[in-house]
Amino acid sequence: MIRYSRLMAALLIVLLLEACGNTPLQKTKTNAETTGNQLNASVVENGKQLFLQYRCVQCHGEDGMSGMIDLSNVAAKYSEDQVKTWIANPRAMNPATGMPAFNMLNDEQLNGLAQFVRSIKKK
Ligand code: HEC
Repeated sequence: MIRYSRLMAALLIVLLLEACGNTPLQKTKTNAETTGNQLNASVVENGKQLFLQYRCVQCHGEDGMSGMIDLSNVAAKYSEDQVKTWIANPRAMNPATGMPAFNMLNDEQLNGLAQFVRSIKKK
């Protein structure tokens, strides 16, 4: 009897871990699938660092949602390439924009930032 309940407890823990552990990634996956661009977890993580480093946080908030411009809807509106253009050359997207151009970034950095921004979603 004792053995049996231990086994059940272990099974329950495994199931719980699976349920919790996978949720965020699966979310971004579904999100990317619907808009045609696949997100890569390590690229997203790299982009998150750049988001802090290049002070995107000053205008967009630490989570990309709490600043003056909320980025949580970007994945639904733009492809990855369009987000890269937003970052490198915002005026190409909106000539009247108040966002500065980050034209010093290389392609790898732009990929990271674009993927991170496209992963931002309201919980
Ligand atoms: C000085 C403030 C400022 C900084 C710094 C800044 N942005 Fe922006 N950003 C804006 C503003 C203002 C807009 C809205 C522009 C518009 O609608 O014309 C915007 C818009 C955007 C958009 C498009 C959002 C949408 O829904 O259309 C993206 C993507 C974006 N920013 C990403 C970034 C990233 C990534 C960084 C850092 C590399 C960054 N921004 C740094 C001010 C800033």
